[in-house]
Amino acid sequence: MREITVAVLPGDGIGPEIIEQAIKVMDAVAGKFGFKIDYKEALIGGAAIDETGVPFPEETKDVVLSSEAVLLGAVGGPKWDDLEFSIRPERALLGLRKLLNTFANLRPAKLYNELIDASSLKPEIVKGVDIMVVRELNSGIYFGIPNGVFVDGDERVGINTLRYKEHEVERIAKVAFDVARKRNKKVTSVDKANVLEATVLWREVVERVHKDFEDVELSHMYVDNAAMQIIRWPKQFDVVVTTNMFGDILSDACAMLTGSLGMLPSASIGGDIGLYEPIHGSAPDIAGQNIANPIATINSAAMMFTYSFNMPEVEEVIDKAVKAVLAKGYRTKDICSDGCKVVSTEEMGSLVREEIEKF
Ligand code: IPM
Ligand code: MN
Repeated sequence: MREITVAVLPGDGIGPEIIEQAIKVMDAVAGKFGFKIDYKEALIGGAAIDETGVPFPEETKDVVLSSEAVLLGAVGGPKWDDLEFSIRPERALLGLRKLLNTFANLRPAKLYNELIDASSLKPEIVKGVDIMVVRELNSGIYFGIPNGVFVDGDERVGINTLRYKEHEVERIAKVAFDVARKRNKKVTSVDKANVLEATVLWREVVERVHKDFEDVELSHMYVDNAAMQIIRWPKQFDVVVTTNMFGDILSDACAMLTGSLGMLPSASIGGDIGLYEPIHGSAPDIAGQNIANPIATINSAAMMFTYSFNMPEVEEVIDKAVKAVLAKGYRTKDICSDGCKVVSTEEMGSLVREEIEKF
């Protein structure tokens, strides 16, 4: 029997609750498809700070590096907000992404028809929305040096640096074109090339890479316009490729098209070990209440089977199960409009598991 090893990092806030639901679902598909999952749980973020004093302990690094894929809940919360920057929970996430060399972050924003009323936009605007945001994850302003707060004369200066090397743009552009080939063959590269030199280079390199993908249609858009177009007419987009920072912002906007931030999964690929996490945060305001939406995490686990284990048929089954549960009217609070049956985090996980068992 095939055995796979998955590092599980629940993290903070709603992290542990939503991860538990994803594990229910993973166990169910393992049973169905006849493979075994070896879960290795480890601490990250605030939970790790509380136990060990640091957000990304060496032991967690070892666990991660000896696994085939990583499933992460969320990190951060008010409890750790006043800590010095270098040991904040968020640092762990950035460190993890860097350690795994997962430079390509795929964030699919796909509307489930059942949730059309959960979106804050009109049904005719969002019906059929299916956007893949390809966010660069290992470079850009998140990692550029110099960064920090320095003394400059009689005041302080805060600095972050937007920086992209050609090879960093090249590799993310290739991923975007590859992904587009399996979809509707349209890539929109989002930059701010009217102002930022780093993204003038970005645009140039994307154009160059495009020469090997001429079957894919390429267009460029400034980020401010892109933010507007995503709200105005989201169906014009297929694949959106962009920098780390722009991707962070635009993917939240895309998530809202689909009804809730609680719906959007992500896969971070490009290194040997894939990282899978919902795009939302730790939601400290609702942590421990059993009301969080676990679907983004369940769908992140689903992406793991496709991208890390080459088992797209498993992702398909999970996707069908989620759809079946939604079609029966079950919703967590965040995606409930009129006439739905509100269920808890745990109930949602169990409902998806039951659907899988029925197939
Ligand atoms: C995300 C999050 C992270 C990011 C934070 C928590 C570091 O917002 O995954 O989108 O900015 O990348
Ligand atoms: Mn974000």
